[in-house]
Amino acid sequence: MKKKIGIIGYGWVAGANHRNSYSQMNRDEVEIVAVCDVCDKALARAKEDFGLKEDCLFKDYKEMIDSGLCEMVDICTPNSLHCEQAKYALNAGLAVSIEKPVGVNSDEVAQVKALAEKKGLPVFVCFTWRHMPTTRFLKDVIDSGTVGKVYHCYIKCIKESGLWEGRRLEWRFQKEYGGTGVLCDLGSHMIDFLNWMNEDIIGLYANQGIFIKERQKLDSDEWAKVTTDDYANIMADLKSGATANIELSRCAKTEEQLVEFIIYGEKGYIRYCNYVGEGLEICYGSKEEIKKGKQRVSTPSSYGENGRMYQSQSFVDMVNGKTDNFTSTIDDGLRAQMVIDAAVKSHVEKRYVTIEEIKNSLKY
Ligand SMILES: NC(=O)c1ccc[n+]([C@@H]2O[C@H](COP(=O)([O-])OP(=O)(O)OC[C@H]3O[C@@H](n4cnc5c(N)ncnc54)[C@H](O)[C@@H]3O)[C@@H](O)[C@H]2O)c1
Repeated sequence: MKKKIGIIGYGWVAGANHRNSYSQMNRDEVEIVAVCDVCDKALARAKEDFGLKEDCLFKDYKEMIDSGLCEMVDICTPNSLHCEQAKYALNAGLAVSIEKPVGVNSDEVAQVKALAEKKGLPVFVCFTWRHMPTTRFLKDVIDSGTVGKVYHCYIKCIKESGLWEGRRLEWRFQKEYGGTGVLCDLGSHMIDFLNWMNEDIIGLYANQGIFIKERQKLDSDEWAKVTTDDYANIMADLKSGATANIELSRCAKTEEQLVEFIIYGEKGYIRYCNYVGEGLEICYGSKEEIKKGKQRVSTPSSYGENGRMYQSQSFVDMVNGKTDNFTSTIDDGLRAQMVIDAAVKSHVEKRYVTIEEIKNSLKY
């Protein structure tokens, strides 16, 4: 039976990533039956993309949920709206997918988690980096002990999107809508990557800052303050005893956006870099093998075609009761959010912050 999905927020990520990911699925499994967006242009695009009738387009997410058209919702709105929309959907008995970061603080994310448990409904979180063939391969290689005990994880997500000429004061540059800037935008993925590798962060030092301090508003030429971070750095201790460094920026002039994971263990290292070509770079084994230098290994075809994105499949599978090592849930969303809150606290209070401290301070 086809699952009937309603999308809330049909901006960049929904119109590109999600639409693409659903389109790669078996047509008998899902159908986009409704879309909600406050913007007329976004609704017109959705109408054309999915061949929807006027009465399947909504400006108010509550009306879309109350319409009874959908059994699952896919939330792709600005960060500050995710949790209230998720709670409304859960209260109406719908399964939910939420874009990352789940919310703007751990308390509201914990509330969503508690409600989902009470209602017995699945909540999926779009940690996209779990749903690509090569990163799935990387996880399996690490889990199989190829590099032995892990000592260091060096992770970078470096973009120049904050330097695009004339880029205006979108919601992601404002604390009230975004929560934080690159820390939650890019960082939530990178933090989840570590958690997913079973390398949970237990405590950290962090800093963050803003380079481009003012931008022109979207609806006028007036200039206003940017209130979310352009860069953030995290130095973390991991539960396994290993350490991690996470470097994030949207103001690093670069030929292509860089996403890099390097895992160093007692037997060598494995490196994923998004623009070095397909597969992984590895260098491990005996002294002689290490001396031979780095080699490339291709991602086995069993992980799927290069370029495929299995995120929407994973969401629908979860709703159908099928989960695996790659499924990203509200528990993962809360873990990532607590690390984000710890990083903000560390920066503000200029001290080491443990995740336990954040957990103990949850009001919910
Ligand atoms: N997983 C990923 O790799 C990835 C990539 C990009 C963005 N994201 C996340 O996706 C979310 C959306 O980001 P985006 O880049 O698509 O932003 P966007 O601004 O392009 O799209 C947001 C859309 O939400 C709509 N919207 C705003 N308020 C609404 C409301 N009350 N009800 C319904 N619709 C409303 C806007 O009109 C807009 O069309 C964010 O949480 C972001 O962090 C995730």
